[in-house]
Amino acid sequence: MPTLPLHMRRAGFDPAPELSAQRDEGVRLVDVPQGDRVWLVTRIADVREVLGDPRRFGNSPHHVVPGAPALSEEELAAVRPGNPLAFDPPEHTRLRRLVAGEFTGRRMRWLEPRVHEVVRDRLDALERGGPPADLVTGFALPVPALVICEMLGVPFADRDAFQDRYARFFDVTLASEERLGIALESRAYLAELARRARSAPGDDLLGTLVRSDLGEDEVVGLADLLLLAGHETTANMLSLGVATLLAEPDRRARLLAAPEVVVEELLRWLTVVPTGVPRIALVETELGGRAVLPGDLVICSLPAANRDPELVPDPDALDLGRQAGSHVAFGHGVHHCLGAPLARMEMRIAFQALLTRFPDLRVVSTDLVFRSEQAVYGLDELLVEW
Ligand code: HEM
Repeated sequence: MPTLPLHMRRAGFDPAPELSAQRDEGVRLVDVPQGDRVWLVTRIADVREVLGDPRRFGNSPHHVVPGAPALSEEELAAVRPGNPLAFDPPEHTRLRRLVAGEFTGRRMRWLEPRVHEVVRDRLDALERGGPPADLVTGFALPVPALVICEMLGVPFADRDAFQDRYARFFDVTLASEERLGIALESRAYLAELARRARSAPGDDLLGTLVRSDLGEDEVVGLADLLLLAGHETTANMLSLGVATLLAEPDRRARLLAAPEVVVEELLRWLTVVPTGVPRIALVETELGGRAVLPGDLVICSLPAANRDPELVPDPDALDLGRQAGSHVAFGHGVHHCLGAPLARMEMRIAFQALLTRFPDLRVVSTDLVFRSEQAVYGLDELLVEW
């Protein structure tokens, strides 16, 4: 049985080459620390089949951190309530429905002028500080963090503490007791904000949640996921995306000419969620010609599926002129990323504004430091000058 390549971590912009090799084999059993019978799914059609059928493949509450060891019962009780990724329908539907209205296309059009302002302010600050600058701490992290903080009603001034907590929580090498401690800290922080919101509910998302019929721990869990998912992923797409766009001279012009098309191809090619949250087989079933038993863990590799030649021709090439097809960078099925319209808007506005403000922006770092130990792939630092 092959060992799963380093929890599917990567070096550089491409997925581990072993992953693409596994795609030729179809669905197969692999050795991972997470369990006994673990199936690795790497083809786009099989990934869509798993993620698209919650009656056969449920969300595993024990595996809420992709790539990390399974959670204990104690951890589970602490981190599960309110987290839509830890439930199947109908519980999942109930949680998701409460906040879905905040992420529609209409809501995004309303929010767009504010995102422009947030981006402009960060660019002003970068310009004032002068080159060289770290684009991760100066732009990629604060832009989506500011937006989700405002949407939720979380003080942006607390960002250093919560970003540090999430980075530690997402470290796939962390011992499980430590992860539990961090999860509890994060919940305690959001519980305090929820308590304040209860005494004076605002017109932000926390206000909506405390006015709903959710239990207290559910409000905390849902807000925690929104704060985490709302900036970690987009921030890493922004920094990796800028590094990619600056790597070749014609990429900047392509982005400025057709930002929507380029953002989709970047999402496909970079795929910052390295695995996709694992699923558990709920019934005895067949997948890619293999007999899967109830309780088997099924890990869908989003980076491998997004480089499947069945999705686009010449999938390892970055082709900024093509339609990236229906990639799975945001997942698929009932858990398809709730924040996808927000992330797409933030990327389009941020890339456009950055490359317009600094037409001669260049990467200074010679060796990029990739976040290979984190459950969201990206860069720790991106030094640029202009
Ligand atoms: C779910 C990726 C931005 C909120 C997901 C999933 C993926 C993903 C792959 C599915 C996980 C699964 O099926 O198990 C991304 C990427 C982003 C991004 C690549 C940025 C480029 C955001 C933003 C938010 C957000 C800005 C805003 C709050 C969520 C939530 C879920 C989710 C709440 C759970 C949905 C559910 O269980 O129904 N995301 N995401 N994400 N994402 Fe995102």
